[in-house]
Amino acid sequence: MKTTISHIKADIGSLPGHTVVYQPVVDEVENYVKNNSEGLISDFHISHIGDDIQITMVHTRGADNPEIHKLAWDAFKAGTEVAKKIGLYGAGQDLLKDAFSGNIKGMGPGVAELEITPRKAEPFIVYMMDKTEPGAFNYPIYKMFGDPFNTPGLVIDPNMHMGFKFEVWDIYNGKKIYLSLPEDTYDLLAFIGSKSKYVIKRVYTKNTHTKLPDENVAVITTDKLSFIAGEYVGKDDPAGIVRIQSGLPASGEALEPFANSYLVSGWMRGSFNGPMMPVGMDNAQMTRFDGPPRVMALGFVMKEGKLAGPVDMFRDVAFDYARNEALNMANYMRRMGVFEPHRLPDEDMEYTALPKILEKRAQDFKKIEDKGANSEMKGGQ
Ligand code: 13P
Ligand code: 13P
Ligand code: MG
Ligand code: MG
Ligand code: MG
Repeated sequence: MKTTISHIKADIGSLPGHTVVYQPVVDEVENYVKNNSEGLISDFHISHIGDDIQITMVHTRGADNPEIHKLAWDAFKAGTEVAKKIGLYGAGQDLLKDAFSGNIKGMGPGVAELEITPRKAEPFIVYMMDKTEPGAFNYPIYKMFGDPFNTPGLVIDPNMHMGFKFEVWDIYNGKKIYLSLPEDTYDLLAFIGSKSKYVIKRVYTKNTHTKLPDENVAVITTDKLSFIAGEYVGKDDPAGIVRIQSGLPASGEALEPFANSYLVSGWMRGSFNGPMMPVGMDNAQMTRFDGPPRVMALGFVMKEGKLAGPVDMFRDVAFDYARNEALNMANYMRRMGVFEPHRLPDEDMEYTALPKILEKRAQDFKKIEDKGANSEMKGGQ
């Protein structure tokens, strides 16, 4: 029977400011789901990274199901009431609309859903990132499903050798394209290297795949960006689900992209480039310069609608090197203050005073007719 994994996340308030969720609010969300999900879902798990609460649910109602989305929406609403009472910073930040209207997409929370035919064993990893944007998944997802130096299974496992199909969204124009790897590798990279414009939305097996013909095997949240295509509304701290093993990347191949740090956009005020740092649940809070941007990975198996796990995948010395590298990169980048490429280009900043400064200074700008140093200054201006 088809089973759906729905992962829905939102920032509904933090302590003291964008740093970390507050446990009583997480508890309220968890209790709401527990007490209102009978007959709707077969299992769920609540987690969090930084200021974002994450609900992973298992059910048989398919993707985009109004009742499932409403359950998550109402749970976040209930959590927001607690956040408001306590006076958390940014209470209800990601609940952009007042009333639920059938689909949570476009209302603020991020959604990643996989409708699958479960295998005998169905292992998967849920990745959660804070202080960055969906394009931060482009690099690691490409490495997992497209790069044989990361995933030797692409070369040595006959069930993976045919490669995978990628669904890429052009988030500025609201269009999507399917590209098939390995044959379309260079076209794919041409797009997804521009990670603020093109984002990997889903990965599929190909119909030549011997174990899982045309199954969706990975999905990333892209909501806030996609629903207002063309108009910049800020970054959406993303999450993703990746199925692993038996003809898919092995657990270790799905973690390997994070063994070194890499640069992503987000960090302070959503306006800076900074290093991605893999962390365990015990380090899922944002401190230095509101970061550095972090990723957490929780490993589950699912059987007959029930979850076992999670394993806190990055809570391991094997990722200390990546963490140290990220800290060194953070030092290096921070020295640049408000200079690019630490600070993002104007059009990608979440906050900017530049239009106001330009307006204030407009009359001070003069046409360039260069007559040498200080010629105008000497004229007494
Ligand atoms: P096991 O032989 O322990 O199942 O591991 C197989 C594998 O794919 C490891 O990467
Ligand atoms: P969040 O997107 O995690 O709410 O962070 C916003 C911010 O401005 C951090 O400096
Ligand atoms: Mg926040
Ligand atoms: Mg956040
Ligand atoms: Mg953000």
